Amino acid sequence: MDPLLVRAAKREPLERPPVWFMRQAGRSLPEYRAVRERYSFWEVAQTPELCAEVTLQPVRRHDVDAAVMFADIMTPVLALGVDVELREGVGPIVDRPIRSAADVARLRQPEPEAFAPLLEAIRIVRGELRADQAVVGFCGGPFTVAGYLVEGKPSREYATVKALMYCEPSVWHALMDVLASCFSGYVAAQVRAGADVVQLFDSWVGVLSPSDYEEFVAPWSARILAAAGAPTIHFGTGTATLLPAMAKAGGDVIGLDWRLPLDEGWARVGDRGVQGNLDPVALLGPWQRVEAAARDVLARAAGRPGHIFNLGHGVLPGTEPDVLTRLVATVREID
Ligand code: CP3
Repeated sequence: MDPLLVRAAKREPLERPPVWFMRQAGRSLPEYRAVRERYSFWEVAQTPELCAEVTLQPVRRHDVDAAVMFADIMTPVLALGVDVELREGVGPIVDRPIRSAADVARLRQPEPEAFAPLLEAIRIVRGELRADQAVVGFCGGPFTVAGYLVEGKPSREYATVKALMYCEPSVWHALMDVLASCFSGYVAAQVRAGADVVQLFDSWVGVLSPSDYEEFVAPWSARILAAAGAPTIHFGTGTATLLPAMAKAGGDVIGLDWRLPLDEGWARVGDRGVQGNLDPVALLGPWQRVEAAARDVLARAAGRPGHIFNLGHGVLPGTEPDVLTRLVATVREID
């Protein structure tokens, strides 16, 4: 029997929707902070036993149906030869941003061994989970990762990266080609190592218009999603107007944020599964509101095959871990 998450992605009828949380590892967990007191982020991510441990912490604590591998969307970018610092509470910082044809030409495709620690961690995690629980492998969306590479830091408008797209489309597409090749190999290797599902996190793609998305991003996302070799989840935020184009680019399941009620988002996605979409900020409010919001999500999904219960974006650092545990139990009770 396939893991519940895989069966949902295939839109098999299920007794209850699978539940897990984007960014469930790290962040709010004291057991994660204890590991991080002794090791840096990259040390954890690149030591298979530590990576597996941190990946499994939220599964043990919350009894979620999936383990999302502990890595970052910038992990494969290190293997391209770019220096990235993950500054806690800020995000990825790139000291020498990629802005010219020469900058793109300096990127080199990774050696196959570059991903060995993550692949080993996947084997460990797969071995520790029950058969009904899934390993989620992932990569960043090409726009979101390029955003950090070109801007050099988190941004609100993504003006530098959008200007590069408009002014130097050949440099843009060369960069996309490098990222799509790298990420295609990266996700396919994760699946061969035991990942059951692959998620593409294009978190900031919502800053684009639908036509810019189709011209500059969709073909590259399509290439990565087609390369995975396992069911895929295609996620972004601020995507209300992009959902049809994202679904066309690919993904067995489309991730929805909280800005549209789940049933309205699902109507825009069409003939696919959907994942979402409780507002992560709701978890900072009183429990009655959390429970009501969870009921609303489930009522709008109405038991249709293909729903995966999740937040509309990642768990926020200030979230009380017990609220997540209680939310998992509640989703199971209600459904
Ligand atoms: O459940 C998990 O957390 C699994 C691992 C994971 C991380 N990053 C670890 C991480 C995943 C799935 C990601 C994805 C990621 N990273 C995304 C897509 C999802 C999203 O939230 O939109 C994005 C945009 C990033 C980029 C990134 N990396 C940011 C914005 C930050 C800093 C913000 C913060 O959380 O402090 C990071 C750093 C990062 N990635 C941390 C973790 C646990 C925090 C740094 C640390 O613990 O040292």
